[in-house]
Amino acid sequence: MHPDSAPARTMRLDGGHARQVAILHHQGGFARGWEPAECAALIADAGVATDGVFGSGSQLAGFVMSRKAADEAEILSIVIAPAHRRDGLGRALLSAHLARLAEAGVAHVFLEVEEGNLAAERLYRHFGFREVGRRKGYYPKADGSRATAIAMRLDLA
Ligand SMILES: CC(C)(COP(=O)(O)OP(=O)(O)OC[C@H]1O[C@@H](n2cnc3c(N)ncnc32)[C@H](O)[C@@H]1OP(=O)(O)O)[C@@H](O)C(=O)NCCC(=O)NCCS
Repeated sequence: MHPDSAPARTMRLDGGHARQVAILHHQGGFARGWEPAECAALIADAGVATDGVFGSGSQLAGFVMSRKAADEAEILSIVIAPAHRRDGLGRALLSAHLARLAEAGVAHVFLEVEEGNLAAERLYRHFGFREVGRRKGYYPKADGSRATAIAMRLDLA
């Protein structure tokens, strides 16, 4: 975190944040964007946990969303707005989110990350996620090629 940064504030998000979540998701650089209605449906889903993080301003700086099933959860997406990256917000957000999942009885967390996404890989490894497999050609890329997905897992309990 920058020495002059305010402490990150995290909170659960609700349907009122759907538009901001869609904008952030588009800033994530994924091949397929999420529309606001799709974000609203996901946030409203009782099996989905959505948390947000604020930097120094009142604007949402990032979000993370997971789908829960029994004692497992899958991280669907995490994005920090480009202007707020490398400031510790991703770490603060994921820390709060994992604590919330643990409180909800989640014992195992899974995710997939594109090979070569060093920022995300480093963020996940910081929390103890470890690689459990690779899927070649999993992600479609804008240039028509396909990237390898790294599957990762973290045991919370
Ligand atoms: C991945 C992402 C959420 C990280 O958020 P962030 O707020 O910038 O991350 P933080 O500042 O909290 O840093 C977390 C760790 O990642 C490292 N990191 C962040 N950006 C990095 C970069 N561009 N290159 C290398 N390492 C990077 C930090 O050094 C830190 O490592 P450490 O814990 O070992 O010290 C952000 O880069 C992002 O939104 N990327 C686009 C969307 C995306 O790829 N999401 C993941 C999909 S699986």
